[in-house]
Amino acid sequence: MKVIPYGRQHITQEDLNAVNETLLSDFLTQGPKIAEFEKAFAEYIGCNYAVAVSNGTAALHLCALALDVNEKSNVITSPITFAASANCVRYCGGNVFFADIDPLTFTLDIKKVEELILSKPKGFFQGIIPVDFAGYAVNLEAFKKLANEHGLWIIEDACHAPGGYFTDSHQIKQFCGNSNFADLAIFSFHPVKHIACGEGGMITTNNEKLYQKLLLLRTHGITKDPEMLHENHGGWYYEMQTLGYNYRLTDFQAALGNSQLKRADEGLKRRREIAATYFEAFKNNLNITGQSGVVEGHAYHLYIIRTAKRKELYDFLRSKQIFCQVHYIPVHTMPYYHSLGNKKGDFPIAEKYYDECLSLPMYPTLTDEEQNYVIDHIIYFSHNNN
Ligand SMILES: Cc1ncc(COP(=O)(O)O)c(C=O)c1O
Repeated sequence: MKVIPYGRQHITQEDLNAVNETLLSDFLTQGPKIAEFEKAFAEYIGCNYAVAVSNGTAALHLCALALDVNEKSNVITSPITFAASANCVRYCGGNVFFADIDPLTFTLDIKKVEELILSKPKGFFQGIIPVDFAGYAVNLEAFKKLANEHGLWIIEDACHAPGGYFTDSHQIKQFCGNSNFADLAIFSFHPVKHIACGEGGMITTNNEKLYQKLLLLRTHGITKDPEMLHENHGGWYYEMQTLGYNYRLTDFQAALGNSQLKRADEGLKRRREIAATYFEAFKNNLNITGQSGVVEGHAYHLYIIRTAKRKELYDFLRSKQIFCQVHYIPVHTMPYYHSLGNKKGDFPIAEKYYDECLSLPMYPTLTDEEQNYVIDHIIYFSHNNN
């Protein structure tokens, strides 16, 4: 039996053709494929602007810069996320505050966020970074209302959730990253994500001013746009107008991303089928609680179960070539964040969740046979480990 990982990319002949074609074209980086990918992605997500960047972490960093995060900034995020959601604030010298998660959705608990905001003087916080963890779409309408009450911005970390949505108070589907309620949203195209570029990321927004800022920041703060120049010495002339970075995506990565994007809905459909099968398999199993059941709009980057015997189950499945994963070790317990004053015990719901969570294999090319093999072993384990 070959290893069954928790996630993996799906590369087709069409993807290979798209990359090959670009490799043989005139542009390896910043050519037409970037603009094509950005346009197609913005259409898919349902927003006005998209900026392709080198990875999801760079996307977060640029968002924090565009929103002027600095040493005086205080920003709230979830402890159950990849470290990058918090680190982007630190890159700009700002302070990260965590709030506990909701025990059912494993995403930021809005009540805890509100309590945190109210526990500090007015104007103390500048922003919130909610995470569509595992593909579960956070209700950003509610977060936007809270953010407006306190004058905060929102960066939606939608790395896990392209195609995910929640239904707003007008019964309208609000797709993750459409930026109707967030100032900016970000995605990652790491291989285990819905769309793979190798490395890659995207920022989406409806705010033209932020969009223009992001374009500058992505490429050293340099512009050649005649309308933006202070002077113009000729065709070669450019100006570095702010301190930016080289966070560009290459053209052949964009070609891969664009080709993958064409199959995004197909992949999402398969992920939802896999989730429904897991849910059916475990719903009557008393020892294992599934992740909030089958949830409409969930993008299922991950399928997470909770079990009190997580380590034993992880080791047992590994011995059967099933390589599950744990998402995530709470960020506030990392030595780096501990050194900044956070400690174990601060967020008991997140910590209990971490003690019990396990991400099962979830990717579009997982076969029924492989999934049944996973399910059978989990059920066998639970019957023999009461
Ligand atoms: C929730 C979340 N945010 C941010 C990132 C960072 O993305 P990248 O790995 O593309 O830098 C990831 C990816 O691992 C993630 O899962």
